[in-house]
Amino acid sequence: MQLIDGKALAGKVQSNVASEVEALKKEKNIVPGLAVILIGDDPASHAYVKMKAKACENVGFYSITHNMPDSISQEEIIATIEMMNNNPRIDGILVQLPLPAHVDTDKILEVIDPKKDVDGFHAYNVGRLVTNLDAFVACTPLGVMKMFEEYNIDLKGQDVCVVGASNIVGKPMASLLLNAEATVTITHIHTKDLKSHTSKADIVVVGVGVPGLIKADMIKEGAIVIDIGINRIADGSLVGDVDFKNVSPKCSYITPVPGGVGPMTIAMLLSNTLKSAKARV
Ligand code: GUN
Repeated sequence: MQLIDGKALAGKVQSNVASEVEALKKEKNIVPGLAVILIGDDPASHAYVKMKAKACENVGFYSITHNMPDSISQEEIIATIEMMNNNPRIDGILVQLPLPAHVDTDKILEVIDPKKDVDGFHAYNVGRLVTNLDAFVACTPLGVMKMFEEYNIDLKGQDVCVVGASNIVGKPMASLLLNAEATVTITHIHTKDLKSHTSKADIVVVGVGVPGLIKADMIKEGAIVIDIGINRIADGSLVGDVDFKNVSPKCSYITPVPGGVGPMTIAMLLSNTLKSAKARV
């Protein structure tokens, strides 16, 4: 069994981004800029945004965070995004999810200029991903693809089971795998017999937020298991969606939690923002 070290790979991606930022500054006088909109006071969202801002600082980006109260109106959020769409110093716009219940998330995401949609959530980029055209792709699934590449894991013809069908993780993950010519099965909360799908797969990618959902008897001997879940359990520790202790001995490769997919998400956000800055006209 080999651990896939997301922390190390994220460090490598970030240092490559930092060198490219330096060159971009020198050669074109461009400093990549990321704007984050953070609404309300959800502690997890605040923690994530803080990590994103810190990562921007580490690679030499310009970054701003707009904190807004829970009571903010949809119109005010839209006006803020439009201001960012028109700000030439901003290459990437990220609206931290989830949004308060009174806000229409789909509508908000559609206001972001697709050329600055570094989260890859806009329907324009989702459509381009599905048709295998160049697009901004959601950071977490993109980070998983980067892991496969780093560990020379060939996806062509592999049976991959994606557990979870969210717009942020499962659906873009499945599209990327299909584009890489894997045979993809998508399972979700209404799937009748999850084990019948996971136990046949060469690769299982799970991101649903249910601690320990994937147990040893659900995984084929020698399979690759990618755990996107990050769950804080009663004793305060972080665990994934996979019963790591019992599943890992059966795997050829597995990602740990923490230190697996998590750090890759931020690394790919930096990479997407750099890509946007390089495309400035
Ligand atoms: N909330 C949970 N994950 C994400 C993410 O990748 N991007 C944004 N904007 N919000 C999130």
